[in-house]
Amino acid sequence: MKFIHLTDPHITASGSLFEIDVDARLRDAVASINTHHSDAAFAMITGDIAHWGEAGAYARVQEILSDLKMPWYPMIGNHDIRDAYFTGLPDAKSNGAGQACFVVNNDAGAFIALDTLTEGTHAGQIDAAQMQWLDNALSQASGSVFLFMHHPPMLSGIQALDNIRLQNSDELWALLSRHSGKVRHLFFGHMHRSFHGSWNGIPFSTVKSIAHQVVADINQDKPLVSSREMPAYAVVLISSDTVAIHDISYLEEHTAFAYDRENGRPEE
Ligand SMILES: [Fe+2]
Repeated sequence: MKFIHLTDPHITASGSLFEIDVDARLRDAVASINTHHSDAAFAMITGDIAHWGEAGAYARVQEILSDLKMPWYPMIGNHDIRDAYFTGLPDAKSNGAGQACFVVNNDAGAFIALDTLTEGTHAGQIDAAQMQWLDNALSQASGSVFLFMHHPPMLSGIQALDNIRLQNSDELWALLSRHSGKVRHLFFGHMHRSFHGSWNGIPFSTVKSIAHQVVADINQDKPLVSSREMPAYAVVLISSDTVAIHDISYLEEHTAFAYDRENGRPEE
């Protein structure tokens, strides 16, 4: 089973952010996915759909992502505005109580998406009602679970990001540990860079933002520094014994070359 993980498109009504053409970056991602991975079961977009949360930004996203050849599931992030998100993305899934948490069931298992947005802060939180919802979703999942959220629950070593990670990660872990062994992988956004490892034994990953990236100022107490590094999306391949993740730097596809293994020279 194949799916696409893309994150943090930060689309604006103007189409530009920090002098980056975020509109074009998202359109180019869609074109690359459709060309090379149209067999993906779906695309999951782990939050910060819009940078400022304007209605015009969500209208752009709706138009651009509607070109994908597979179903796509947006999630909410700290830059999103809840009312504008649900108004501008009419097919966005929710739990029916105004939170953008949902389950997508597939032959590979249950894909559970959480809503970690608390408006007024860039840090993340899962409230008590959603913890109960997650507890029920995990209880109902009979096979593998793949968990998605915008905010990472673990420390990264980038202090400015760690300050705005999920604030009640201990509570989340206490719940997950009661369903030990169910979650095979945790996917999130928010980091704006490649970042992967394990948290309490659960493998995790994110992928570069579709928009700007964050510089890895590790173990330094300083404000976030962004960069115009190239974006990426991830292709995830799931089988009974493996979760394989490929980050695709889709704006650098033109740099590909084959080479002659006999003489080591690039082929004409
Ligand atoms: Fe973001």
